[in-house]
This record gives sequence, structure tokens and C-alpha cells, in this order.
Amino acid sequence: MKNTVLTFAKAKEDGTKISMLTAYDYSTAKLMNNAGINSILVGDSLGNVMLGYEDTISVTMEDMIHHTKAVSRGAKDALVVADMPFMSYQTSVYDAVVNAGRLMKEGRANAVKLEGGKEVCPQIKAIVEAGIPVCAHIGLTPQSINAFGGNKVQGKTEAAAQKLIEDALSIQAAGAFAVVIEAVPEKLAALITSKLDIVTIGIGAGNGCDGQVLVYQDMLGMYSDFTPKFVKKYANLGEIMTAAFKQYDEEVKSSAFPAAEHTYKIDDDIIEKLY
Ligand code: KIV
Repeated sequence: MKNTVLTFAKAKEDGTKISMLTAYDYSTAKLMNNAGINSILVGDSLGNVMLGYEDTISVTMEDMIHHTKAVSRGAKDALVVADMPFMSYQTSVYDAVVNAGRLMKEGRANAVKLEGGKEVCPQIKAIVEAGIPVCAHIGLTPQSINAFGGNKVQGKTEAAAQKLIEDALSIQAAGAFAVVIEAVPEKLAALITSKLDIVTIGIGAGNGCDGQVLVYQDMLGMYSDFTPKFVKKYANLGEIMTAAFKQYDEEVKSSAFPAAEHTYKIDDDIIEKLY
């Protein structure tokens, strides 16, 4: 059954947890969907893990639409949330609605996600009024990495913690159905979760959130450029893939691959006539 914003609301009501993972392509989305993951985020982290940028700043609307289309085709039951890239919503409420609309219409997302607190509430309100569900994102918001001066845990002082609480309440009042909380102390994320009627999805925010999200290349051990403390590696596919690539390389060079079972046959009579 398709997960919707109502699934999220019911989970909050029942106290059951929401699972979310990032994906950027059809095959991975299909595997996650079939594993029962509630929601797939087409994160602008694709800038790092798919495109090899050092941050998410250069990711474009075209990049997001391209990958969202692929994920949507593989995610029959999972709720597909597409990230709004840097400068696709900060510039104006108008840009925000137009670009959120493109992610829905061209990408076939079920919802959009954008980063920020109070300052983006006019955008959240307008997008929601256009009939598009919005997931917000507070705490460490990677599009602001230059303003933060690096990937740092957020909300550690009283003032910063108070601001995060106010941001979360404003986001809820603006109509968001969920909020991602990234790199925030566990007790603060749990407190924010207890104050909200909407779902909180944690990433580096402890176990007190209503759900969790991870970047799939991180949790499968496929991305080694930078691994935050909050990542749990559920598999080490990076090692398995490298070993497979090495074996392939050796077998091609030694002519061990392809073997007879990987090869198509033709009658010898026909071949002989061709010499
Ligand atoms: O872009 C992304 O993958 C994200 C997650 C880290 C929440 O925003």
C-alpha cells in the first residue's frame, strides 16, 4: 500500500517509527520499496554521493528532476520526497512554488523537502497551499555549510537550542507534514519531537525522533570520502564491489570471462560457410 502523508500522521499518533532512506535511481529505489521502507528521499546529497561534488551547493533542479523521475518509477509504495536544491526556493516564494511544482509534475515526487526554519516559512506555507506536501529540514542544513563553517553539531547552546525549538514550531504552523532534524543532540531532538504533532525524522539526532533517515551509500559502506559519527554501516558493499571489480578485471585479462555459459551458440555449418 502506498505510504502517504496520512501514514506519517498515523505513525505519530500510534507511536510507530517511520523508516526513510535516500535513493537516486530506479533499481535502488525498487529494492528499498520491496524491503518495506516507508519513504525514499531523493536527497540533494546526490551532489556528494552520485556526482562527486564536495558539497550540495552545485546541485541543480535538472539534477533533482532527473533522479526523482527514476526513483518514482521504482517506489511503488514508498513516499517519494524530493529535495529542493540550493537557490530553488531561497530566492522567493514564487520560485519556491514553481520549483516544488516541477519536482511533483516532472519528477513525480509525492512531497518536497527544503532546508531552514522560520525564514523559509512563507515558502512552506505557499507550497502547502498549492497542494504540495512539505518536509522541512533543521539543525545541520548542508546547503548552509558555508555559513556554518563546516559540518558541525547544531543546537548546543541554550540560544541555539531555543531557536531550533522555535523553528520547528513555526515549520509546523506553516503546514509542513514532517521535519528532518540533522546533527542535533539526542535530548534536544527528543524534546522537539515531544513538542510537535508532526513527524520528526532524525539523522544524527538520536533515538527520540519519530523516524530515521540515512544516506544509503553511507549505510552500505559505499562512500568513503567522509563518514559522520551517526552513520551505522549495515553492510560493507564498498569492499564487496571492489573485490568483484578486481576479479572481473583479472578474468577479462586472463580470458576466464566470458565462459561457455555466458556465450551464444551458432551452428558450425553456418560459420564454416562464412570463412
Ligand atoms: O540530501 C540528503 O540526503 C538529506 C539527508 C541527509 C536528510 O537531506
